[in-house]
Amino acid sequence: MAAEYALVVDGASKAFQAEGGWGSGFRLLPGRARKAPRQVLAVDNVSLRIQKREIYGILGTNGSGKSTLIRLVSTLLLPDSGTVTVFGRDIVRQEQEVKRMINRVSVEASFFKKLSSMENLLYAARLYGLDGRTARAEIVRILGLLGIPRSRINRPVEQMSRGMQQKVAIARAFLTSPILLLLDEPTTGLDPRSKLDVQQFVLGLRDEHDATIVLTSHDMGEADALCDRLAIIDRGKILQEGTPLQLKQELAARTGRTTLPSLEEVFLALAGRSLEEDNEEEAGGQA
Ligand SMILES: Nc1ncnc2c1ncn2[C@@H]1O[C@H](COP(=O)(O)OP(=O)(O)OP(=O)(O)O)[C@@H](O)[C@H]1O
Ligand SMILES: [Mg+2]
Repeated sequence: MAAEYALVVDGASKAFQAEGGWGSGFRLLPGRARKAPRQVLAVDNVSLRIQKREIYGILGTNGSGKSTLIRLVSTLLLPDSGTVTVFGRDIVRQEQEVKRMINRVSVEASFFKKLSSMENLLYAARLYGLDGRTARAEIVRILGLLGIPRSRINRPVEQMSRGMQQKVAIARAFLTSPILLLLDEPTTGLDPRSKLDVQQFVLGLRDEHDATIVLTSHDMGEADALCDRLAIIDRGKILQEGTPLQLKQELAARTGRTTLPSLEEVFLALAGRSLEEDNEEEAGGQA
């Protein structure tokens, strides 16, 4: 039976022990109560359903839980409670099957820095059982789509700018043909031209390869233009979800406005602060 959804998250939560989180009173002295460690609820009872071929955006300030949520889905972290299924497979019980269907790109992607992007990508291709000749042609094609000229492909990765390395990381993830691609801030730090290259590439993945894409972003313009639906997340909770238009219409209706607000305004109204202000301070203080 074909799974109904690409991704289903049901009541997932993930807490971390806060840094230095034992509290100042923590000492193993006789007669002294041991303080419980402070916890940060990074993902707080999150539920969402993402359809096949959707481009789904997760928007939130620094520390709001975006990367933790992505890492849960990609099986790098186990949820404390709740369930996550990818095309009907449970990420805990069917981890290996899930891993074959997904790939994740994060901002801290790692490479063999002395090797070229071609060598790095061939290595990844081999791990996934692709034959060298097919992989080689595909690598040139994909890097070309992402705006990396042929002349750069055989240079060591360490000589490439961070933006270019980010593109190589996206190419590497795509090479393994994931049907669910998780992109954690794919365009953060990229110049406008490179942002467009990556956005076009993401659209192509969906249109030509039927991929489902979940991405996180701080860029409202990007979210508006690229995403079919968005979730606005704050302190680990989804505040609201919908198409960009639905989110704007909902705010307009609620405030009696006759013109549509921007996504920035939607975010501000929901989270009570702008996307530029971060979560860390308050998140760190949660009990
Ligand atoms: N491994 C960890 N150990 C302890 N706390 C963590 C860990 N990973 C994340 N956190 C905390 O969980 C909360 C959510 O972090 P997360 O990285 O998911 O946020 P984010 O939305 O991705 O932020 P950013 O926009 O800065 O990437 C933060 O308070 C963070 O400090
Ligand atoms: Mg993050």
